[in-house]
Amino acid sequence: NKVVLAYSGGLDTSVIVPWLKENYGCDVVCFTADVGQGDLELEGLEAKAKASGASQLVVKDLKEEFVRDFIYPCLRAGAVYERKYLLGTSMARPVIAKAMVDVAKEVGADAVAHGCTGKGNDQVRFELTFFALNPQLNVVAPWREWDIRGREDAIEYAKKHNVPVPVTKKSIYSRDRNLWHLSHEGDILEDPANEPAKDMYMMTVDPEDAPDSPEYLEIGFVAGLPVTVNGQELSPAALLAELNELGRRHGIGRIDMVENRLVGMKSRGVYETPGGTILFAAARELESLTLDRESLQVKDTLALKYAELVYAGRWFDPLRQSMDAFMERLTETTTGSVTLKLYKGSVSVAARRSPFSLYREDISSFENGDIYDQADAAGFIRLYGLPTRVRAMQESGL
Ligand code: ARG
Ligand code: SIN
Repeated sequence: NKVVLAYSGGLDTSVIVPWLKENYGCDVVCFTADVGQGDLELEGLEAKAKASGASQLVVKDLKEEFVRDFIYPCLRAGAVYERKYLLGTSMARPVIAKAMVDVAKEVGADAVAHGCTGKGNDQVRFELTFFALNPQLNVVAPWREWDIRGREDAIEYAKKHNVPVPVTKKSIYSRDRNLWHLSHEGDILEDPANEPAKDMYMMTVDPEDAPDSPEYLEIGFVAGLPVTVNGQELSPAALLAELNELGRRHGIGRIDMVENRLVGMKSRGVYETPGGTILFAAARELESLTLDRESLQVKDTLALKYAELVYAGRWFDPLRQSMDAFMERLTETTTGSVTLKLYKGSVSVAARRSPFSLYREDISSFENGDIYDQADAAGFIRLYGLPTRVRAMQESGL
């Protein structure tokens, strides 16, 4: 039998390879997804995987799929978890797990394995995706089974099994990086009273060190999805990479929060989402022109549930998929452009335009127009305020 392991090349996943062979007697196929974590993390992986005892390494470039099929739907839905988190890790897990299911089929494996700890959200996201896409696969989660407890144990295990210990110095933080974001957890962040260190950040410059003059950019949307930056049409992954660079320079998209994990505990995390923060600001703004009041309210209400489902790993549930169909239909006319100004950590809106705009200057203007008759307001207010008058009459005994 054969197992496909989600493999990063770090110490933990390197140790999992001999552990699987020893405990399950199976052939280990390592799988690495390129979701934009950077070339440094992808370098020399094949040699490393083989040195750990894997029979092969499969690498798939999932960047366009990740942005187009996972990030863009969340952007269109306006999905934000617990007021702040733009779901960078949550969206990446289902695309990686889906590819693992495909690889398992391609190489004829009957099991999949991951290196998530038993205390986090990621294990849930991986396994719910495996369940949804192939309920027959066996799932192995070594962290929930073995007695390796820390880095020292892992190094000892590696040495005993002649696995080269990865030379890359392990950072003090637990990080997860992809095209959308970089998350930081652990070490001094575990005390919510500690301010993050200045040198922890990797995707953005400190807003205090950002340029003293603002930079403008224009994002074009078609049906709720971004398609151009400054007039240039770009693929989803290229568009996000471009906005990440603009956001990086101006220190955009740093979030520091305490969140509720699915497994019940609170955890403190810091996120950098430069391009994503710019896109959320733009998409939200365009909707102020294209959506009517009630549509906007219902959409915002559903967005909360949508974000919760994504956070909880329920990407492939019919509920999220149906909500997605709603979001797609509702944003059909969210087409147009938004001009933004980036300056020292902030994104502000300078202009918004849409051919489907519901805003009409001939109605809204303080100059008189003839579609809106001010005299109509008197009757409207009397009826709209009828319950208010009735209550006041009752209270004063009239
Ligand atoms: N707390 C965030 C989430 O649950 C980020 C998790 C980061 N994952 C990691 N393996 N470092 O989505
Ligand atoms: C992990 O435990 O693998 C990382 C944290 C998380 O999944 O939330």
